[in-house]
Amino acid sequence: MDYKRMPIEVESPEEMGYDTIKYNLTESSVTDAVLTNIDLNLNQLVLCYSHHKGKPELRELIANESAELLAENVLITAGAASALFIISTSLLCKDDHLIVVRPNYATNIETPRAIGCEIDFVELQFETGFTFTLEDIASKIKPNTKLISITNPHNPTGVLIPEELLFQLAALAKERNCFLLVDETYRDLSFNNKPALAASLNDCVISVASVSKAYGLPGLRIGWLITRNQSLMNTFLAAKEQIFICNSVIDEEIAFQYLLQKDAYFSVIKKHIQTNYAILSRWIQNEPRMEMVEPGGGVVCFPRIKVDVDLVKFYEILNTKYKTFVGPGHWFEMPKNYLRIGYGWPKSEELSEGLSNISKSLDEVYKPHD
Ligand SMILES: Cc1ncc(COP(=O)(O)O)c(C=O)c1O
Repeated sequence: MDYKRMPIEVESPEEMGYDTIKYNLTESSVTDAVLTNIDLNLNQLVLCYSHHKGKPELRELIANESAELLAENVLITAGAASALFIISTSLLCKDDHLIVVRPNYATNIETPRAIGCEIDFVELQFETGFTFTLEDIASKIKPNTKLISITNPHNPTGVLIPEELLFQLAALAKERNCFLLVDETYRDLSFNNKPALAASLNDCVISVASVSKAYGLPGLRIGWLITRNQSLMNTFLAAKEQIFICNSVIDEEIAFQYLLQKDAYFSVIKKHIQTNYAILSRWIQNEPRMEMVEPGGGVVCFPRIKVDVDLVKFYEILNTKYKTFVGPGHWFEMPKNYLRIGYGWPKSEELSEGLSNISKSLDEVYKPHD
């Protein structure tokens, strides 16, 4: 494995120090939850090794989302990040071929790169609404294609793929004897109907998700992968056991007790997201120097600056003078005129101020021609 630190991690707010940032529009989750605001009882918890696959009741709760799934199809992991690592390292060797959409959450590209497998990208374009077709994927399949990797709803754009395409991709993977990874970490944040839980579609599909994004619990480090393929599950379990044996019983218990009441917690979270999305929409409509593809879920969007400006200067002013941070394009292997705005994490006033600071920074670098 040829590990390299990713810019999105090196430059993350937690690595820079949260106190160095006044207006934090970099986050891809909702506001972080506070432990005392969660109704918990941990007094009788035994601090033993837990079940290697994860707390049975937690796995059952997750599997209950689909009639096609059982608790045994669910493996609890340390966040979605470790699920993605387990999947890539279990499935891909140097001789294998991966098809992955780009831009993407960096790990979905970087771990396969560290393995050294062959990678073909499906490049998502602003002009086509960051969407792709079945043909975009099918035309890239080769005899050594082992994995197709998509993220839905997508990070960094928030775009959802049509459900029909999801069904077609699942069928394509089955027909062509490869696996389809659907990173569904933002699924519970879909604006309208949630897409089908992908792993329920057939035994070639693997779903990944976590409690980090929709519930503001990234510090718990609880996520999961789901597969109906028993032999694949055994391989994933072996990988988990070799990396960390089992999850923290405390993390699992908190996630379980939270998820039992998730609808009640989420009704408050949803209102905040809707308020903030309205602020974002108003701002972008009144900001003629930027344009955006409307997201269908998540709490991030990926607008771009459409006028010609000195981008180095723009970010310098935004970060230094206005103490405002966004996810710059290079976090996603995209040009710097693209920026990810996380609108679900900040308080509404912070979001308004941060967006206005983007406009003020543009004022300082944009000189329209007469
Ligand atoms: C698409 C996607 N997958 C996975 C992760 C990892 O999240 P976690 O490990 O906190 O569950 C992230 C985090 O940003 C993400 O955006």
